[in-house]
Amino acid sequence: MKNIFILTPFPDMVNAIVTESILGRAQKKNQVNFKILNLFDFSDPPHHRIDDYPFGGGAGMILKPEPIFRAYDKVLLEQSKNHGLKVVFPTPDGIILNHEKAKDLAETNNLLFICGHYKGIDQRVRDELVTDEISIGDYVITGGELASMVILDATVRLIPGVLNSYESAKTDSFAEPLLDCSHYTRPEIYRKMKVPDILLSGNHEKIKDWKKSSRIKKTQERRPDFFEKNKK
Ligand code: 6GU
Repeated sequence: MKNIFILTPFPDMVNAIVTESILGRAQKKNQVNFKILNLFDFSDPPHHRIDDYPFGGGAGMILKPEPIFRAYDKVLLEQSKNHGLKVVFPTPDGIILNHEKAKDLAETNNLLFICGHYKGIDQRVRDELVTDEISIGDYVITGGELASMVILDATVRLIPGVLNSYESAKTDSFAEPLLDCSHYTRPEIYRKMKVPDILLSGNHEKIKDWKKSSRIKKTQERRPDFFEKNKK
């Protein structure tokens, strides 16, 4: 079973995501074990501060190193032994997440996500503990929790057995070097919009060709970079 530790000052935010839907089911089936660590539990009494002013000045507070190093020590004790630990720090200045990185994380038995804030964590944590600095795209969001959940979700669904055959990742965009095609369900005509005839034809060979060519067309239109990269 994969152990996924999430260190955050906002445990409720994370708990809401990992207990529902496919992630929640994966935990019930013992395919993953989510362990949410409250950063405040590792802070010093009596004030329980987790952040402080930046040396050298500047705007914003910085997460202190001590609570994070202490939480890491606890993770070292609790992880399943000899199966590798990756420490993920979501940050807009990280490497942009893609399918290969999610697969790489899915093959690691122990993961620790450190939810921080841009310009908001002591660099010594990044230098000493973090193995993977990952961005979820070229824009900024307010905190590391949602970014961690995006990375975690993309990872957990690639663990064998987590998805059932209906949800199977195999024809998803990015699992193959093509974006996904359009999908339709009943009714055949809705508000004068008709499902493509080919999908109603019952000709499985033709349907397969249609799906393939619409995937190629969409990939060329939307992601020529991706199309070229994967053509080789
Ligand atoms: Cl990982 N964090 C934040 N705060 N913003 C982001 C991001 C991460 N990736 C893209 N934007």
